[in-house]
Amino acid sequence: MTRVFEKVADWQRARREQQARGTTLGFVPTMGALHEGHLSLVRRSLKENDATLVSIFVNPTQFDDRDDFEKYPTRLEQDVALLRDEEVDAVLAPSYDDLYRDRYRYKVSENEFSRILCGASRPGHFDGVLTVVLKLLNIAAADRAYFGEKDYQQLQLIKGMAEAFFMPTEIVACPTVREEDGLAMSSRNLRLSPEQRALAPRFAEALRSPSSLPEIRKELESLGFRVDYLEEIANRRFGAVYLGEVRLIDNVVI
Ligand code: PAJ
Repeated sequence: MTRVFEKVADWQRARREQQARGTTLGFVPTMGALHEGHLSLVRRSLKENDATLVSIFVNPTQFDDRDDFEKYPTRLEQDVALLRDEEVDAVLAPSYDDLYRDRYRYKVSENEFSRILCGASRPGHFDGVLTVVLKLLNIAAADRAYFGEKDYQQLQLIKGMAEAFFMPTEIVACPTVREEDGLAMSSRNLRLSPEQRALAPRFAEALRSPSSLPEIRKELESLGFRVDYLEEIANRRFGAVYLGEVRLIDNVVI
């Protein structure tokens, strides 16, 4: 049975009871509008732990763009139904006021890797991510927490935070799940028009091509993408592009 918790304190009580019984917990934090990418994390957690908690919270502090926050898809009932089908044990869907009792007076920042790639074009984004993930990991009190390589920079920053603060939860990396045409699954794909959706897989294709970064940029721009960044760091190629107002990110091993 899937239990839905709206209050942080109610979940914490349930978790203390689990801990008294020695139940191991896997945790999957999300912003909802769930797709197969999220579900791959959920299934891995179900396999590796006695119980699984999924959180659904569209975290306002990580959006540098108000419009992007307001247009972020929300479909809580549908998400809970999907998680029931997967036989997830618990869903935490807290309110902003409950999670941010401090009204975001306290935050976690990282000062190097968070400043490049997505951090350079989205000021404050990773402060918001790290802060909410710190709160959620403390609340979940899980043995393992699962994050996708689709958001590779986020994953590395969270791993670094867990190490820096001696956090007891193991951070587990999961591979990127793609549509059949190669487009990395993302909740934001729902906002693409049919024409944009048809074009979108060319982004992943371009990242994989043997061409140089300037050549890839030119190709994507000629197709109608607006390129935010394209970079190679330590054997990985990272990119962020816009189709209309929708921002897509991806990364591949080279
Ligand atoms: P969200 O975009 O909902 O993603 C939740 C988790 O699912 C993240 O770990 C993300 O990397 C993973 N994920 C998303 N698409 C994926 C795909 N195609 N393949 C594999 N994994 C995928 O990332 C966030 O939410 C937020 O920043 C959050 C960590 C919840 C903090 O608010």
